[in-house]
Amino acid sequence: MTVEEIRAHIDPIRHEFAEARSLILPALKFAQTEKGHLTREDLEAVGEATGFSAAYVESVASFYDRLYLRPTGERVVSVCVTLSCMLRGADELLEHVCEREGLPHDGGTSEDGRITVQEVQCLGYCDRAPCVQVDAEETRGPLSLDDADALLEELRSSPRPERLWR
Ligand code: FES
Repeated sequence: MTVEEIRAHIDPIRHEFAEARSLILPALKFAQTEKGHLTREDLEAVGEATGFSAAYVESVASFYDRLYLRPTGERVVSVCVTLSCMLRGADELLEHVCEREGLPHDGGTSEDGRITVQEVQCLGYCDRAPCVQVDAEETRGPLSLDDADALLEELRSSPRPERLWR
């Protein structure tokens, strides 16, 4: 993503942040929507748009598990593995989803590049355990194994989102 595009996104919200460095996160999240992950060029562009070095920007990006420094699938399915979900079958759910996508037990990206599966900690939907989140948008649960199959089919049959928010 270009410096100009990132500036166009963060300029209208600059006044909401007391410190300039606080703009790095929204800038990174936006820069990531183009490809679904952050490239070296994206980190440099965010640095230039926010006034920080690419190395500093990378140190911020590497701290957060929803900022990706490696390619991801078009859609990211995050399976909660924290206590409430674990007690209601999250391990089985994760294993089922990974197996279906041909992935190792702890997730990864499907061979066709459509789906990334990852473990995450509590999504704040404990009363709907076990649950998953699709990209950064939608949390679903309680999810049976059949529901998970239907969800993956639904994601595969839907077009690539214009922006990859995650
Ligand atoms: S433990 Fe899974 S949403 Fe809270």
